[in-house]
Amino acid sequence: MKKIIEIKDINKYYSVGAEKLHALKDVNLEVDEGEFLAILGPSGSGKSTLINVIGCMDKSDSGSYCLDDCQIEQASEKELTQIRNEKIGFIFQKYHLIQTYNVMQNIIMPLLVRGMTQKEAEAASLETIRMLGLEERMHHKPRELSGGQQQRVAIARALVGEPAILLVDEPTGALDQTSGKEVLKLFHRLHEVGNTIVMITHDLGVAQHAQRIVRIVDGELLEE
Ligand SMILES: Nc1ncnc2c1ncn2[C@@H]1O[C@H](COP(=O)(O)OP(=O)(O)O)[C@@H](O)[C@H]1O
Ligand SMILES: [Mg+2]
Repeated sequence: MKKIIEIKDINKYYSVGAEKLHALKDVNLEVDEGEFLAILGPSGSGKSTLINVIGCMDKSDSGSYCLDDCQIEQASEKELTQIRNEKIGFIFQKYHLIQTYNVMQNIIMPLLVRGMTQKEAEAASLETIRMLGLEERMHHKPRELSGGQQQRVAIARALVGEPAILLVDEPTGALDQTSGKEVLKLFHRLHEVGNTIVMITHDLGVAQHAQRIVRIVDGELLEE
């Protein structure tokens, strides 16, 4: 089985005034291709810090991180931008959609960043748009959609570039229970068709949808 994520002894510190806060403590984590992993922990435990490192938005202070055969500590800023665009699909609690763009324009963004033309990107995204049941909403603006629909747009945008991993931060945090359940069902389906998913949550009920759960407590990762 191919390892998509290999994290060895990662540490991360924040400076708070004269103090140093140890936010990630010798974290080790391996994720296989096709796995659906949840990282469960309370507020302040280091979830966002860890997901920022996994998502190559922030670097650790020590340790090593290999993502889909790329050694991240050695990557330049330019390479990191490309890795984020090609290897990672981000899904955030608050969707992070561009309000002045319609659904289609939001979804094709990662493909335009890669240099596809508008036409190519639209053609390449149709299957994803259909899979997420968004065909009838393609020309709507995000504010004209329900929370669940907006999260589906965000999921489509994350999927459209066929990333090596989907990184999901509290995906149901802003949704009512019914829409939250639908989004979790969708992750089951995406896992079934072979996607690798790493989901961060403080909610055990949400984490239990994953195949494997690891806990993060005070910056330390504990395997279940
Ligand atoms: N930019 C920052 N500067 C200083 N401390 C931070 C910063 N970001 C997070 N922290 C601290 O690091 C710890 C972990 O935070 P975070 O990763 O946001 O946890 P979680 O996402 O689990 O709530 C907390 O104690 C938090 O206060
Ligand atoms: Mg957080």
